[in-house]
Amino acid sequence: MSGRKVLVTGGSGFIGSALVKALVKSGASVRVLDDNSRGRPRRLADVEKDIEFIGGDVRNPDTVERAVQGMDEVHHLAFVNGTEFFYSQPDLVLDVGVRGITNVIDACRKHGVGNLILASSSEVYQTPPQVPTDESAPLVVPDVLNPRYSYGAGKLISEVMAINYGRKYFDRVLIFRPHNVYGPDMGFEHVIPQFAMRMKKLGQQQPGSHLQFSIQGTGDETRSFCFIDDLVAGVMVMRDKGEHLGIYHVGTTEEVTIAHVARCIADIADAEIDIIPGKLQPGGTMRRCPDISKLAKLGYKPRVMLSEGLEPTVDWYWRNADLAPKT
Ligand SMILES: NC(=O)c1ccc[n+]([C@@H]2O[C@H](COP(=O)([O-])OP(=O)(O)OC[C@H]3O[C@@H](n4cnc5c(N)ncnc54)[C@H](O)[C@@H]3O)[C@@H](O)[C@H]2O)c1
Repeated sequence: MSGRKVLVTGGSGFIGSALVKALVKSGASVRVLDDNSRGRPRRLADVEKDIEFIGGDVRNPDTVERAVQGMDEVHHLAFVNGTEFFYSQPDLVLDVGVRGITNVIDACRKHGVGNLILASSSEVYQTPPQVPTDESAPLVVPDVLNPRYSYGAGKLISEVMAINYGRKYFDRVLIFRPHNVYGPDMGFEHVIPQFAMRMKKLGQQQPGSHLQFSIQGTGDETRSFCFIDDLVAGVMVMRDKGEHLGIYHVGTTEEVTIAHVARCIADIADAEIDIIPGKLQPGGTMRRCPDISKLAKLGYKPRVMLSEGLEPTVDWYWRNADLAPKT
């Protein structure tokens, strides 16, 4: 597979840029399509000379066609990520989700590109029927009136399209469902960066005291946080060995409570905290932990425990606080 020409949409995003670097390292020739709405060129600085960058919108069919032309493989990651946007801009989330996958499939068919990898999400399950959750759990939109589900619905549509067009027109379609990926420069609209930034601010406002640390929900909600290096390793294993129309979880089985995450970040900050529970946003789920045995059978093994991955992540946010969006 080395030497293949690969397009990564969303390639200057958090996951996309890490994937681009791994693909370059594996010998692939990489092109990126991103409108840099959330993508950051700094993430691709190390490989700037090795890749081709097309700035443009995945909703524009001509742009996507230009990007797909001449490729052997497309990794479609461009999507509006970040929970707050699911609530505040559900129309945009769906626009990018639905037009994005439609344009990618159309362009691949037109230019004879037979290999497609799609980034989906654990959000397709909303509240899964069982935890750990395997890939056969039903994909659901529990309430069309709740804007949060714009994201899960966009992913669900993308998956159904990739599978059904894939069956008919593609040589190999693979879907990965990442579960709560984290790492340095992951964006600011996620729980770990938000906790890190707030911990620092509170520490400056109340030096030496027990910090009153408010969170959404009780703190008993769980997630399984996957360090970016493990996510990329998982996608590369899937790319090497995954079967046509295969759907794979990429994540870890280290399920932790949100209160635990807050306390770990407090430890890194050398602070003591009292957790102040708050209201959970409507549609937020209580537990999330993937069953990763399907990908493990292909050789995937996550290596970075939360205790190892959290410190460099938090440290990045403290060192780069000036990059936070101004509110
Ligand atoms: N980070 C996670 O924990 C996680 C979990 C589940 C699924 N995912 C999925 O993985 C993929 C990558 O996520 P990420 O964390 O890197 O998010 P990200 O926001 O960092 O990356 C998404 C990229 O898509 C680009 N983009 C958005 N709209 C676009 C448009 N209209 N045209 C072109 N580019 C556009 C953004 O600029 C950004 O660079 C996404 O599909 C996301 O839904 C991520």
